[in-house]
Amino acid sequence: MSKVYVLDHPLIQHKLTLIRDESTGSKEFRELVEEVAMLMAYEVTRDFPLEEVSIKTPVGPAKARVISGRKVGIVPILRAGLGMVSGMLELIPTAKVGHVGLYRDPDTLQPVEYYCKLPTDVTERDLIIIDPMLATGGSAAAAIQFLKDRGVKNIKLVCLIAAPEGIDNVQEQHDDVDIYTAAVDEKLNEHGYIVPGLGDAGDRLFGTK
Ligand code: PRP
Ligand code: URA
Repeated sequence: MSKVYVLDHPLIQHKLTLIRDESTGSKEFRELVEEVAMLMAYEVTRDFPLEEVSIKTPVGPAKARVISGRKVGIVPILRAGLGMVSGMLELIPTAKVGHVGLYRDPDTLQPVEYYCKLPTDVTERDLIIIDPMLATGGSAAAAIQFLKDRGVKNIKLVCLIAAPEGIDNVQEQHDDVDIYTAAVDEKLNEHGYIVPGLGDAGDRLFGTK
């Protein structure tokens, strides 16, 4: 069974509260999402292996550790996932970024795919899928399947807020994918929105409401 990591660092929780607040406008919302994504990248990369190298400091030779040849891909689910890309890249600057376009049909709540562009060497990379909201889990599960169908083996899912229903759905379909979230909220409402959540992440990021 995959693991669910709830990242309860005080900085993440403080910023998430500001993100949730309906009085937070788009500019601040974007900045906060970027900052939280950067903080989450720190935890998501915790299991990266290290190797020893020889270097010279100004004082003399030293053995020191660097990350061991890890190739990473960051895959935002369009559109709201875009808000987390720059924060992740701050800490993992050598990552390549692929895009998967999915929107949730408002009536059926089923994910509809409309775009895909991935790094050419995607199968050699460890992929981090990012999307602020894990609601029914339909979009995330579809994106994971999409990447697996293209030969990707190592996938992590990172979101800001998850509903229990979304976590169950992803774990049922993909029990090899660990989930990293800043919060697990109470439930979904009748429109498939996370309660209390933060509203529509894409609209709040891009001011489309
Ligand atoms: C939102 C969100 C997720 C999805 C989550 O995207 O960013 O991708 O809904 O819902 P689910 O877990 O029930 O699939 P949306 O479809 O609103 O598209 P957008 O990012 O373009 O606003
Ligand atoms: N998508 C969002 O943007 N917010 C939710 O609460 C659920 C899906």
